[in-house]
Formats: sequence, C-alpha cells, structure tokens
Amino acid sequence: MVGAGVIGLHTACRIQEELPNVQVTIVADKFTTDTLSGGVAGIFRPSCHLQGPEPNIARKWHDDSWEYYRKLHHGEDAGVAGIVEIPVFAYSNRSKEATKNLWLESVVPVWRDLSEAEMTLVEGDFKYGSYYITLVIDPTYHLPYMFDRFKSRGGKVVEQNISSFMELHEYDVIVNCTAMGAKKLCNDNNLVPVRGQVYKVKAGWIKAAFYDDLETYIIPGVDYVTLGGCRNFESWDTDVNKYDSAAIWERCTNLLPNLKRAVIQKEFVGLRPHREPVRIEKEIIKQDDKQLKVVHVYGFGGYGITLAPGAAMYATQLVKQSLHPDTTALKAHL
Ligand SMILES: Cc1cc2nc3c(=O)[nH]c(=O)nc-3n(C[C@H](O)[C@H](O)[C@H](O)COP(=O)(O)OP(=O)(O)OC[C@H]3O[C@@H](n4cnc5c(N)ncnc54)[C@H](O)[C@@H]3O)c2cc1C
Ligand SMILES: *[C@@H]1O[C@H](CO)[C@@H](O)[C@H](O)[C@H]1NC(C)=O
Ligand SMILES: *[C@@H]1O[C@H](CO)[C@@H](O)[C@H](O)[C@H]1NC(C)=O
Ligand SMILES: *[C@@H]1O[C@H](CO)[C@@H](O)[C@H](O)[C@H]1NC(C)=O
Repeated sequence: MVGAGVIGLHTACRIQEELPNVQVTIVADKFTTDTLSGGVAGIFRPSCHLQGPEPNIARKWHDDSWEYYRKLHHGEDAGVAGIVEIPVFAYSNRSKEATKNLWLESVVPVWRDLSEAEMTLVEGDFKYGSYYITLVIDPTYHLPYMFDRFKSRGGKVVEQNISSFMELHEYDVIVNCTAMGAKKLCNDNNLVPVRGQVYKVKAGWIKAAFYDDLETYIIPGVDYVTLGGCRNFESWDTDVNKYDSAAIWERCTNLLPNLKRAVIQKEFVGLRPHREPVRIEKEIIKQDDKQLKVVHVYGFGGYGITLAPGAAMYATQLVKQSLHPDTTALKAHL
C-alpha cells in the first residue's frame, strides 16, 4: 500500500479484513494527521457529479461509505474513531438546488426545507435553505484510529519516499493511494490540484454546520471548528494566502457574527486531488525484466473522506483479482 491518507488506510484495513492471509505493508512519506487527509474538516457530503470507472459506481461507493460510517457511529468505537453526528443548515440566494444533494438526501435520516425561523439563524436574508443531519469523520481522530487498527492486525509500516514503483518490486501487488503524489509517480495529466484553504478555530458553542452557496462553510469537528473556503483550480500554491484568509474570515463572520470571538488555532492549505473520472483500476507495469501488478486508487478531489470506505471495498476486489487472476476468472466463468 503506497499512501497513509484516508484512502490508503481504509483500503489497507479492508484488504486485511477480506484477505486475512495476505501480509499488508503501508509505505508512505507522510502518515495519518501529516497527510492532506489529516488537515480537513471531514464532513460526509458528496458531489453528485463524481464519476468512477463505470456508470453509477461512484454512487455505490457513496452509499457503501454511508453505511460503513453509520455502523461505526452506532458502535462503541464512535468516540475514538472521531465520528460525530451534526445538523447542517445550508443557505443560498441563488437557487433552491444549490442547497440540495440528491445522493445525500437518499441516505441521511432527516432532510427538509428550513423553516422561516431557521432562515434567520444566520445573517444575510437568504432566500432558500435546507436542513439535514450528516456525519463528520474528524480526521485528527479517525486516521490514527484506522492506523492503530491496521497495526493491531499485524500490518507493517515503512517510512519511505518512493520515486518509482520499481522500488517496490518485491511485493506481489502494489496499491497506489498517493493522491497528488501520483501526478509525478504516474505522469498522470488528468490529475489536477484544486487548492483549498481553511481556518481551524476554537468555538465550542458551534454545534451545527453552516453553508452559504458552498463557497463559505463552518464545520464543527471534535476539538476545532473548520472555517472555509476556496477552490482554486490548477493552483499548486501550498502557502497560506492572506487575501484568502481575509475573505474566508469576512464571509464566515458575516454569516455567524459570534465567530468573531473564536480563537484561531491555525490555518491549513491543501490540494484536492481532482480527477475525472476517479481512478480505481488494475494495471500491469512492465520495465526491464520486471513486472509489477498495480491497483490505482486516487483522484477523490474534495470527497476522499466521504468515499473512502466504499472505494476501499471496490479496490479490494481488484486486489483479489490481481493476486489470483486464474481463480477469480474461473469463478466468474462458473
Ligand atoms: C480544504 C479542503 C477541505 C476538504 N474537506 C473535505 C471534507 O470535508 N470531506 C471530504 O470527504 N473530503 C474533503 N476534502 C478532500 C479530502 O481531503 C481528499 O479527497 C482526501 O484527503 C484524499 O485522500 P488520499 O488518501 O487520497 O490522499 P492524501 O491524504 O494526500 O494521502 C496521500 C498519501 O500518499 C503518500 N505519498 C504520496 N506520494 C508518495 C511518494 N512518492 N512516496 C511515498 N508516499 C507518497 C503521502 O505521504 C500520503 O500518505 C477536502 C480537501 C481540502 C483541500
Ligand atoms: C518526497 O519527494 C518529493 C519529490 O522528490 C518531495 O517533493 C517531497 O517533499 C518528499 N517528501 C518528504 C516527506 O520529504
Ligand atoms: C439575498 O437577496 C436578498 C433580496 O434580493 C438581499 O436583500 C440579500 O442581501 C441577499 N443576501 C445575500 C447574502 O446576498
Ligand atoms: C501511481 O500510478 C501512477 C499512474 O500509473 C504511476 O505513474 C506511478 O508510478 C504510481 N506510483 C507508484 C508509487 O507506483
């Protein structure tokens, strides 16, 4: 497994579960909270435009992921796994559609229009609004939790910066969960960074998430509230931009003036690994006299936390096929 962000960790744990006789090793240059995945809010909220390798498959990843996180939230591990249920108030002045999300509406327990009184919970005189309940998968808890699960089942860990897959030729199958790292590793021109910037603040009184036409969001986690955001297509800038900081602060405090009293803990910039379609597929890479079996799992853009468990289930089937091409072909034939 190359990569220890949310996609690598979920896929590694899933392989351990379904293939208990397989020894899984995670190789990465950064782990858990030091990855992109570790810096984001982690709200469960998909884009209905997401494309997988076949029609409707991204929708299945979404539905499977919801089921996975919902079960985890109902179980005794919810606290250590960082899974929190939160209400969401989504506002728009542009259109009712801007506050909707068909995939999410079909799985969450509550989804309705905002009442007149609820329309006035924020400043701004908005015209349209939706209310729903979703989950936050707080990565500062969730990623260490998944990493511990992986290690407690005998998973091995190697800290290494890979410049070519050939460095890993001793493994039977390599799973490529490198996100933006795949740009260089795979020479993949379809992979584009979509830059995002957020504040992490202490504001314990915020117990719900708020969206304003999706550009502005306020999302509480376990210890911090995340204030965002921006989407800069094809920007590689990983430095905090003071103009973005000012705009985010102004938009969030305009929406909820009580945030002016929030204590800023830090700012975070991340590059969403955007790819259409998301890449989950097998490949056999031949170089010199060596042959590598690779399963690629990357390009989840702004939705990697949301889709990780479902994508891991799908990727694990491809790992099985790569390990035992003959038996799976035979089974398919029978
Ligand atoms: C501001 C912002 C907010 C977001 N909010 C949300 C949200 O609320 N909900 C949501 O679902 N998604 C959100 N996202 C998207 C989400 O963060 C990503 O989709 C997700 O983190 C991608 O996970 P990943 O495991 O593919 O990548 P990463 O977390 O980037 O992990 C990549 C791993 O690969 C390793 N790696 C890469 N190259 C190499 C190499 N050459 N050698 C060794 N190791 C290598 C890295 O060290 C790392 O371990 C947000 C993104 C941003 C930027
Ligand atoms: C790994 O190597 C790449 C390219 O050489 C570099 O950009 C990156 O910073 C390195 N990672 C670490 C953790 O040093
Ligand atoms: C939304 O539109 C109304 C009426 O057109 C306007 O008064 C209000 O200021 C707008 N709100 C925002 C946040 O733009
Ligand atoms: C990840 O996949 C890309 C695309 O095929 C490839 O170029 C790159 O070498 C892979 N990374 C690793 C570590 O194998």
